[in-house]
Amino acid sequence: MLHKENQMNIKVVLQSEIKHPYSAVAYGIFESEKHPEREMEFLGDEAVGLVSRLREDKIFSGKPRELFSSLIGRGTMAKGIVLLGLGNEDKFAMTQLREIAAGSLSEFRRLKAKKAAVFLPSFLSKKLSFDEAAQTVTEALLLASYRFDQYRLKSDASDSSSKNLPEEIDLIVSKAGEKSRSEKGFSAGEVIASSINFARNLGNEPANIMTPTRLTEEAKKMARETGLKCAVLDEKEIRKLKMGGIIGVAQGSTEPPYVVILEHAARNPKKTLCLVGKGITFDTGGISIKPAKDMEKMKYDMMGAAAVIAVMRAVAKLKLPFHVIGITPICENLPGENPQRPGDVVIAHNKKSVEVINTDAEGRLILMDALSYSEKFKADAIIDLATLTGAVAATFGDKCIGLMTNNEKLRDRIIEAGKKSGERCWELPLWDDYLDSIKSEIADLKNVGSGYAGTIVAGKFLEQFVPKGKPWAHLDIAGVAWADSSKPFNPKGPTGAGIRLIIQLLRDWK
Ligand code: BES
Ligand code: ZN
Ligand code: ZN
Repeated sequence: MLHKENQMNIKVVLQSEIKHPYSAVAYGIFESEKHPEREMEFLGDEAVGLVSRLREDKIFSGKPRELFSSLIGRGTMAKGIVLLGLGNEDKFAMTQLREIAAGSLSEFRRLKAKKAAVFLPSFLSKKLSFDEAAQTVTEALLLASYRFDQYRLKSDASDSSSKNLPEEIDLIVSKAGEKSRSEKGFSAGEVIASSINFARNLGNEPANIMTPTRLTEEAKKMARETGLKCAVLDEKEIRKLKMGGIIGVAQGSTEPPYVVILEHAARNPKKTLCLVGKGITFDTGGISIKPAKDMEKMKYDMMGAAAVIAVMRAVAKLKLPFHVIGITPICENLPGENPQRPGDVVIAHNKKSVEVINTDAEGRLILMDALSYSEKFKADAIIDLATLTGAVAATFGDKCIGLMTNNEKLRDRIIEAGKKSGERCWELPLWDDYLDSIKSEIADLKNVGSGYAGTIVAGKFLEQFVPKGKPWAHLDIAGVAWADSSKPFNPKGPTGAGIRLIIQLLRDWK
C-alpha cells in the first residue's frame, strides 16, 4: 500500500461557536495595520495587551515572513499566539499567503500545539476572498505537513510526519455568512493538496517499487476510487497501435510499458482538454548512459505522469465542468538485454520516422506517440507535462516552468494561471529555425540537435507530433519537479509541480 499520510483534522469554525481553548492561534498582520489587536479581543486581555505592545514598541512590524510566537495566559481562549507578518496589503494574494501560512505550521509544532487555529479574517486582502484564503491556508498546511518516512525506523525519524503535528487545526471565521464560502475554499484546498501529496508519494517511492506496472496500478486504483474512466494499453496494444517510440525506449528493460488513459466526463463540458505526462519510472539514459552522480534522482522522471494522474484525481473530486483526458505513457529507460541502440530508427504512431541519436533523449520518444495518439479525442487543447531537459534547469533553475506553445491564447491562460497558483511559467520561442538541427540524414527527424537550445529543440521536436491545427502547450518541469532543499511547504524531494497550475487554469477557464 502506498504511504499513508498523517492527517491533521482541519475544519472551519465560527468564532461564536468555539468551545475549547486552543493551544495556539495564528494571526496575520499587514505592515499598514494600526490596531491588529482589535481582532484579538476574544482571546482575552493578555493577547490584546501583548500585540499592542509589540506594535507600539515596533518589535513586530508585519514585514513579509516576520514571525513571532509566544505562550500567553492559561485562562484565555488560547495558550499561545503566533503572529505572521504579511507585508504590503496591496500585493497580498494566494502566492504570498501560501508561503506564509506554511510557516505557521512550524510554529505550531515548535509550541507543541495539539489544538491549533488560524484566524482567517486576518489574512484577507483586496486580492483575496474568503474562499481563496481558506483554500490557500488549507493547501499550505497540508503541503507543509507532508513527509515521506515510511522506509525509516519510527524511532529514527526526527522530522517524522507525526512529530508535534497538531491533531486539529480550526480555521476561524467571525461571521456566519463567511462560513459556507470558507468551507468551499477549504474543500477545494483539501482536494488540491491531497492530490499534490499523492503525486509526491508516487515520486518518492523508489524505482524498484514504483515500476511501470505499479504506477499503472496506482492510476487504476485512483480511478476506481474517484469514479474516473480508466483504460490501459499494454505492450501488445502499444505494438498494435504502432507506437514505436515507447516500444524502443522500453525494450532495454524487463518491465513492460503501458499507456494509461484516464477520462473525466462532465454533463455540459465547457471544453475538452487532453493532458499528457511523461512517465519514465527510471531514466538511466539507456546505452547513452548517464553519469553516476545524481542518477538516483532519475526515479522522479515520472513526475509529469504523476502530475497528470493527480490533476485527474482533483478534476474528478472537484467535479470540474470539463471533459478531461489524461494520457500517460509509462516505461523504464534501461540498457538491459536488448536495448535500443544509438542510430536505431523508430516509427512513431503518426508514421513519422525518428533516428534515435541519443537514447537518453527518451522522454520525447514516448511523448511523440502519446501526443499523436491524443488526436483521437478531438480535444480543444493539449497540454503536456514532462521532466524533459536538464537544460531547462540550467536556464531557469527551480524558479519557473519552461513553457512552449503554438497558441497565444493558451499561452496567456497558462501564464495567468501560473501567476495565480504560484507556479510561474516563462515562455521560450518555437521558431522554425530550430527544426534545422533535428533533421536526420536517413529519417524524418532525429531525437537530438546540436546540443544548443536543448529545451527549445525538445519542444520543437514534440510540436511535430501534435495533431494538426490543435492548440498545444508543452511544460518542461525538469527544473521544478524536485526540491534539492526544504521549502516552507515542500520538504526536499518531489514537489508535485504543475498540479496547482493546471487546476487553476481549468477553474479560471471562461
Ligand atoms: N530525464 C532527463 C531530463 C532531466 C535531466 C530531468 C536532469 C531532470 C534533471 C531527460 O530524459 C534527458 O536525459 N534529457 C537529456 C537530453 C539530451 C540527451 C539531448 C538532457 O537533458 O541531458
Ligand atoms: Zn533521458
Ligand atoms: Zn528522462
